[in-house]
Amino acid sequence: KLPLIIDCDPGVDDAVMLMMALASPALDVRAITTVAGNVPLHLTSRNARMMCDLMGRTDVSVHAGCPRPLVRTPVTAEEFHGESGIAGLDPFDPKTPLAPGHAVNVLIEQLRAAGPKGLSVVVTGPMTNLATAIVMAPDIAGNIDQLILMAGADTEGGNITPFSEFNVFADPHAAEIVLSADVSATILSLDATHQVRALPERVDVFRAMSGERAAILVKLLEAANALEQKWKGKSTPMHDPSTIAWLLAPELFDSKTVAVTVETNSGVRFGQTKVSRTAEGPHRWVTRADADGFFDLLKSLVEAA
Ligand code: BDR
Ligand code: CA
Repeated sequence: KLPLIIDCDPGVDDAVMLMMALASPALDVRAITTVAGNVPLHLTSRNARMMCDLMGRTDVSVHAGCPRPLVRTPVTAEEFHGESGIAGLDPFDPKTPLAPGHAVNVLIEQLRAAGPKGLSVVVTGPMTNLATAIVMAPDIAGNIDQLILMAGADTEGGNITPFSEFNVFADPHAAEIVLSADVSATILSLDATHQVRALPERVDVFRAMSGERAAILVKLLEAANALEQKWKGKSTPMHDPSTIAWLLAPELFDSKTVAVTVETNSGVRFGQTKVSRTAEGPHRWVTRADADGFFDLLKSLVEAA
């Protein structure tokens, strides 16, 4: 089993991502850490705990992290995720407790305990927690096995501004710290995630399935689709779930080697990821995703859970 920490800001697509990760027998989710992003921190933390309850995983430790970005003013995305952050599900008070210990300390402690390349990290929200951990404890970079980020955009353009993707726009300074640290990341940007959309016929597959988890997934996808249709006129992209798909089935993706920097100066390109045109650099930028393969994987996880 691959040990990993998931740092997230649920978020409807983060919720689908958590369903996949918690359902997979190949992954050992050591902790879920939360950050302010799509909605404020108390809601992202509550939503992560709700997903643990719904997946029958009240044993997973959920630790709250940074309540705001490093430098910029906070920005949220209720228009795509609902006021609760988890559109489609009725909020409830989860049994999964909020674990003691700040997310940043948990990242540092668990990475140090894991040893060289001992623990993977998936980040599907603003990178505030991991950036803070790296600033406090630069030695942890060498202990990260796989670092998978849902972040940024290149050829596809932005989703929150013409140039910028939400997670990087919401904390560009944190993204710059993570992307310039001594660790290689695999980056699922909008270039890849916009290829993986919950088209109505794909949602129908889950509607035809029995079981509570399929029903939860349908509620999340329908709600996200309604909001994406309203604002963008399209079916919802599977941004954050693509990170887990990469871990479980990398053959579904094509990628290239790149260097990435982040625009941290104010202006129209604030929060833009700048991707090198030459194949040199520390990071892996995913360029193609097999959407049908992704939805087959999602189906197998929902069936197995
Ligand atoms: C990213 O922004 C958030 O709204 C989503 O949860 C995803 O992590 C997509 O740009
Ligand atoms: Ca997210």
